[in-house]
Amino acid sequence: MKLFLIGFMGCGKSTLGKKLAFRLQCPFIDVDKEIERSTGLNISAYFERFGEVEFRKAEHSIFETSKWPQNAVIATGGGAPCYFNTMELINAMGLSIYLKMSASALASRLRQGSADRPLIRDYQGAELSEYIHMKLSERELYYNKAHMTVQAEGLSASDLEEAIQGYLTEINRIFY
Ligand code: S3P
Repeated sequence: MKLFLIGFMGCGKSTLGKKLAFRLQCPFIDVDKEIERSTGLNISAYFERFGEVEFRKAEHSIFETSKWPQNAVIATGGGAPCYFNTMELINAMGLSIYLKMSASALASRLRQGSADRPLIRDYQGAELSEYIHMKLSERELYYNKAHMTVQAEGLSASDLEEAIQGYLTEINRIFY
């Protein structure tokens, strides 16, 4: 099964994804890294050179043309599910899990790691919080289409890994 981790920047998709993939003994795929590989540019450089619209096109084409293995854990960029029909593609390819966190929790996590994230690089303090509140409320419409939502706030990556493993065992028990 392909497991897609979706959610806002900073919610912990990559950290959790690596742990889950290790536990499930399958590859971990980071869509941002796939874009970097296919374009030869890191995400910030790509945004700088071509802008957001071109980035979204490149991101979307990764989902349309992907040849991901049958079993994999895939972390998507925070905006990926919210453009074109990517959320539908995700849901058709595998099981989607939304790692849900409040805007204020995200803001405090993102305060440290905004330098290599082009959308928030120029915001700080109250402006950063406002931006995250606004963007999250736009994006939740898409994130809420995920098959499963996990309340990620206040949980460590290991707690989340346990919780998701529990859900997967239950799904396997019911369906297989
Ligand atoms: C983005 C999130 C980033 C990356 C790009 C745009 C977004 O990925 O794709 O900077 O629009 O939310 P992460 O969610 O892995 O930080």
